[in-house]
Amino acid sequence: MKALETERVVAILNRLLEAELAGVVRYTHYSFLVFGYGRIPIVSWLRAQADESLVHAQQVGEWITTLGAYPSLAIGPLLDSHKTDIGAMLRESLETEAEALGLYRELLSQVEGRSVAIEEFARQMIHAEELHAAEVDKMLRKPGDLAAFAPRPV
Ligand SMILES: [Fe+2]
Repeated sequence: MKALETERVVAILNRLLEAELAGVVRYTHYSFLVFGYGRIPIVSWLRAQADESLVHAQQVGEWITTLGAYPSLAIGPLLDSHKTDIGAMLRESLETEAEALGLYRELLSQVEGRSVAIEEFARQMIHAEELHAAEVDKMLRKPGDLAAFAPRPV
């Protein structure tokens, strides 16, 4: 097995930590701004996403200290688009989640064949983020539409 390039892996993990923490803030913020008949299930879905992002951030942070490095205290970019439209929130979420997914794929390619455990972690995260993106994509389709809102390679 090839040696792990710890510094590179930690750099990706720190970007992921910041992205997941931004997700916690972003989903919590969105959840305050849902009005109308559909409010209750949508608020609980958004809060569940915030909780999931926090769990991901904690798992990423634990890997950073496992590798003997210092976890970033920064947070990823947060854009306040002042939107209270659920479609706009979901489109924004799809974009930011695609960035996180890209980082998990980068992590996977960096650890493949070098660390079974981090490779497994990266694959699990890719699986979770793909399912999440698929769910958001379906929420963005009009009832009856089968075509993906934003087709991507799976
Ligand atoms: Fe995540």
